Amino acid sequence: MTQVFIVGGAGKIGRRLAQQLHARGHRAPSLHRTPDQAAELQQLGAFPVLGNLLELDEATLAELMASSDVVVFTAGAGGKGGPEMTNAIDGRGLELAVAAARRANVRRFLLVSAFPEAGRGRQVSETFENYMAVKKHADVHLAESDLDWVILRPGTLVDTAGTGRVRAGLAIPYGNVPRDDVAATLVALIETPAVSRVIIELTEGDTPAIEALVPFV
Ligand SMILES: NC(=O)c1ccc[n+]([C@@H]2O[C@H](COP(=O)([O-])OP(=O)(O)OC[C@H]3O[C@@H](n4cnc5c(N)ncnc54)[C@H](OP(=O)(O)O)[C@@H]3O)[C@@H](O)[C@H]2O)c1
Repeated sequence: MTQVFIVGGAGKIGRRLAQQLHARGHRAPSLHRTPDQAAELQQLGAFPVLGNLLELDEATLAELMASSDVVVFTAGAGGKGGPEMTNAIDGRGLELAVAAARRANVRRFLLVSAFPEAGRGRQVSETFENYMAVKKHADVHLAESDLDWVILRPGTLVDTAGTGRVRAGLAIPYGNVPRDDVAATLVALIETPAVSRVIIELTEGDTPAIEALVPFV
């Protein structure tokens, strides 16, 4: 049994991840920011932990993470609140979580990031350009830490049912990926601790998630 602290626990990936972890006998304390989210999280098998990334300090977040083996960061402002909120959640929120994980001595840290090609070939807004810059800065921040990190860069997230099969590589063509399969790949990463300090691009594909990680071991 692995205890996985999910930052962004009420999110679309976060909920799927908690559900899959529960089904495989793991424990998923899930950080969420409004009390009304707790009942649904509990139903999915998660352990709701109330907390807002805009209000938590490093010491408090570290206490919440303390007995976990892995942190998964899948929080994001989702374009709501403009660049300021992206900077606060996807940017400073990630830095806060990294600092808290180090303080709590939770060494394994998985980050859901974004493909650098997202938005290529179309006119992108200033907000989206800022989002991509913040995602890259977050990757740099985590990659420069001494944690046992993995950065996962999914393509465009879709809500179609997952297949459990993906394409994963150091550099792969851009594409879609069901959120279910991002969650399945995070579970595979949690169950394959030998994959460490690597950036993995992810789309839909033909290979079961656990097998797709074999080249990274
Ligand atoms: N959309 C794409 O195609 C795409 C592609 C690649 C990567 N990504 C990234 O994938 C990640 C997860 O995606 P998703 O679909 O699961 O997103 P999501 O459903 O929007 O989940 C993000 C979670 O972050 C939480 N959050 C926001 N502000 C917070 C705060 N102040 N304190 C605590 N939690 C806060 C949200 O809480 P609430 O539930 O309360 O709002 C939400 O649960 C995001 O970081 C996104 O940038 C997206």
